[in-house]
Amino acid sequence: MTQKMIVLGLESSCDETAAAIVDMSAPPSSRILSNVVHSQIELHASFGGVVPEIAAREHLSWINLVIPEALKQAEVGFDGLDLVASTAGPGLIGGLIIASVAGRAIAQACGCAYQDTNHLAGHALTARLTDDLPFPYLLLLVSGGHSQLIVVEGPTQYKILGSTIDDAVGEAFDKVSNLLNLPLPGGPALEKLAKSGDPHRFDLPIPLKNKPGFDFSFSGLKTAARRALELIEEPTEQDKADLAASFQAAAAQSLSHKTKGAMKFCTESYGRSLPLAVAGGVAANELIRKDLQALAESYDVPLTAAPLDLCGDNAAMIAWAGGEQWQGKSSIDWSFAPKPRWPLSELSQE
Ligand code: KG4
Ligand code: ZN
Repeated sequence: MTQKMIVLGLESSCDETAAAIVDMSAPPSSRILSNVVHSQIELHASFGGVVPEIAAREHLSWINLVIPEALKQAEVGFDGLDLVASTAGPGLIGGLIIASVAGRAIAQACGCAYQDTNHLAGHALTARLTDDLPFPYLLLLVSGGHSQLIVVEGPTQYKILGSTIDDAVGEAFDKVSNLLNLPLPGGPALEKLAKSGDPHRFDLPIPLKNKPGFDFSFSGLKTAARRALELIEEPTEQDKADLAASFQAAAAQSLSHKTKGAMKFCTESYGRSLPLAVAGGVAANELIRKDLQALAESYDVPLTAAPLDLCGDNAAMIAWAGGEQWQGKSSIDWSFAPKPRWPLSELSQE
């Protein structure tokens, strides 16, 4: 892109209040001018999960702090904005309304463009924000709420090959982590404990391994981990570490097994192997990244893994996705209302 386009991204769909400034016209290494994230995780920790009402109030308090901070760090004024992009779904409705209303107000006051943006599209297009990965590519999207294999064909074109039929993989990490009395966020804590454990100690199932198709299931694996723990009378730290390692190995194997099937399917359908990308909070997991790297190498394609600071929820990905989706448009759709449920497959029909 040659014409300069400065985007303010806003994100408040779950428990992160975030604002970022992205320069769409800059090369990948200097595109993100600021990326401010306020995590509420400690506030929700004692409840064992995100409390929607508390999250919404907290977003309201923080949105007006993260926005000026993002502008300041980027050295951009309100008058320097070309577009405001806010997450408008999927997520907790009380939170979605905050970024959406704030973004609309700023765009109206500044006279710049406004784009409602899908949170999953933010994760899905991160590989383009960081690496200019050309369409189409195969994406493994793994977060606390989603586990999907998707062919990304354009900013609003997504072919969903498979999804979880029960728990998302991040949710399973969080629940097993909770069983092991680890602190929130569960995924990183479980990964840390697994480092001192034996992944072969417990024989846990790889869900849907022998079933055709690209769907995932993690609920049975989580239950098997719980049963294995219940069978030990007084679990030692080593028992817990072994269980964490065994669970992580089974979850990683399940993801790489289905991704391998999807790679094969794409190679046949597109007449060439598609590049592989991984995004979402769980993409921070080292073992999962390593398995996917080996898979990509076996197909002789690159793996684009989101950098650690862009795996979890952030507003830079929202600014970028909104920027890509705004391009070519000339009128703003003010009629869109935030949606708690907004699957990527619906984007191409809008
Ligand atoms: O994308 P994200 O920040 O929020 C959602 O949109 O869900 O993902 C959060 C999820 C949580 O379930 C968290 O435990 C998991 O990502 N997670 C991890 C790791 N880091 C975060 N899971 C496994 N290993 C990690 N290193
Ligand atoms: Zn997310």
